[in-house]
Amino acid sequence: MNIICWSLRLVIFIVLNGKSKKIMKIFDVYPRWNIEPVKASGCKIYDRDGVEYLDFYGGHAVISIGHSHPKYVAKITEQLNNIGFYSNSVRIPLQDEYAEKLGKASGYPDYSLFMVNSGAEANENALKLAAFHNNRNKVVAFHHSFHGRTSAAVRVTDNLKYQASINRNLEVVFLPLNDIQAVEETLRKKDVSSVIIEGIQGIGGIVVPEPEFLQQLSAVCRETGTVLILDEIQSGYGRTGKFFAHQYAGIRPDIITIAKGMGNGFPVSGMLIAPQFKAVSGELGTTFGGNHLACAAAIAVLEVMKEERLVENAAEIGEYLIGELKKIPQIKEVRGRGLMIGMEFAEPIKELRNNLLFGEKIFTGVTGTHVFRLLPPLSLSKELADEFLKRLNKVV
Ligand SMILES: Cc1ncc(COP(=O)(O)O)c(C=O)c1O
Repeated sequence: MNIICWSLRLVIFIVLNGKSKKIMKIFDVYPRWNIEPVKASGCKIYDRDGVEYLDFYGGHAVISIGHSHPKYVAKITEQLNNIGFYSNSVRIPLQDEYAEKLGKASGYPDYSLFMVNSGAEANENALKLAAFHNNRNKVVAFHHSFHGRTSAAVRVTDNLKYQASINRNLEVVFLPLNDIQAVEETLRKKDVSSVIIEGIQGIGGIVVPEPEFLQQLSAVCRETGTVLILDEIQSGYGRTGKFFAHQYAGIRPDIITIAKGMGNGFPVSGMLIAPQFKAVSGELGTTFGGNHLACAAAIAVLEVMKEERLVENAAEIGEYLIGELKKIPQIKEVRGRGLMIGMEFAEPIKELRNNLLFGEKIFTGVTGTHVFRLLPPLSLSKELADEFLKRLNKVV
């Protein structure tokens, strides 16, 4: 009897002890490289063994003014030492300061700003605001689009793999990019709430919409009372050599969504809203959006962009880089504007990408199986552009 009792106790002890040793793990949805960055400065990243990498990816187009810019670090640190966060139930003059600076820098001083936290959230709110405005239910998006992972944003993303059954309720019509006839036929019924389009398609492969298409799209949206939403989350904030990519077409969308480069790594996003939209108390809201730290980060980014003329730099270095890449015969096509560049190869690029990363120590982005996405910080120098070209030429 005693032996049975002790054996039972032993089993219970082992089970309980085993349970307490469980360690929470990260939900494993990302394929990751075996590289651990521990430090970064400007356009360079250093891993834990001190190996230096060139950053031609910008952590997915996020790093705009360069890693750990001293003015950015100082501004955020100072803010954190004063007050880091309070909700939108109090006055936050930093929001007004940022809005004023953003209006001037972007060429939209007459628009209003609503701040949130991620690209998807900005698009989600834009689609919602459009529907509040015109009370229609349908949305038009384009083939190969990417607009984020939240409910409506993922529904207007042209990839069924990202959508769960609960995302499929919003009625969305996907049309071919640059097909104005298809757009006109769909919008003439006047039952479409909004059209959402990227300034330059990023994940779709760095595809630039034709300026005439954007002009005609803008006109037909206006005629039919459809809200035009320009997703400038990846293509905006100076990346293409103008503040927004759509400014190459000279149009003025109804809502413009921003994120990524806006905070240089600090999670902050927003939408610029045309004057015809009325702000209705309670229709939109957020806990974290526009908090003190987010504003400080976003202000620092705009100040550095202005002081260091980073939009002009993106135009200049981007033009140079695109010109040089076009001379490399192994590259089938070079697309993009400024420092948002796609390089398409005839063959799959998996091995080439690995050679660039592990051999030449360069971070790049890819999309699909054949296209590289180059999204370096806007502060990229000609010297580092040349260094990139030299290392790329070694492996193509
Ligand atoms: C054009 C575009 N829109 C929206 C998003 C979603 O942004 P986030 O991942 O911050 O939600 C992305 C992200 O890659 C994007 O490239």
